[in-house]
Amino acid sequence: MYRLIYKSKSNQKIEWQTIENILHASEKGNQEHEISGLLLSTNTHFLQIIEGKYEDVNDVFMKIAKDERHSEIQLICFEVIDARLFTSWGMRGIGVFNFNKEIEKMLMDKYGEEEQSVRFPLEAWRVLSMVDDIHMVQKLPSWKS
Ligand SMILES: Cc1cc2nc3c(=O)[nH]c(=O)nc-3n(C[C@H](O)[C@H](O)[C@H](O)COP(=O)(O)O)c2cc1C
Repeated sequence: MYRLIYKSKSNQKIEWQTIENILHASEKGNQEHEISGLLLSTNTHFLQIIEGKYEDVNDVFMKIAKDERHSEIQLICFEVIDARLFTSWGMRGIGVFNFNKEIEKMLMDKYGEEEQSVRFPLEAWRVLSMVDDIHMVQKLPSWKS
């Protein structure tokens, strides 16, 4: 099992509809290939965690990397994992712009600021720490196996 994390910059302002469109179009493929993960977005940036078999993660990332909706793709990690972190959903989308201002400010204080929102980190451990923080404040279903 593998986990890949990347960060990218959107070519257009990201709104909830943008995330919904992407996830809706990805749902079937992700299900078929047993891809799980998380798509986090601010109004300007994406950060995606993709988990699955090597071939599947590799193939979907190659497709995503060519997608013209985003650019400046920065690969954060592509590593072997013992087990998935995101077992209870397929690919979940979360828009930081939907958080209340207090939570967004807390994340900005901790992780830094970029284009008036949270700066998505470029270190895998910091990404997972951010996911843990978001998990706590959002009361998401269990994400650790
Ligand atoms: C930020 C972002 C995240 C995406 N995540 C996925 C994903 O998890 N799974 C997926 O199949 N496609 C994802 N896509 C869409 C792919 O780039 C591509 O449009 C889609 O897989 C359909 O490709 P196809 O028509 O060649 O099969 C994402 C696109 C963007 C911009």
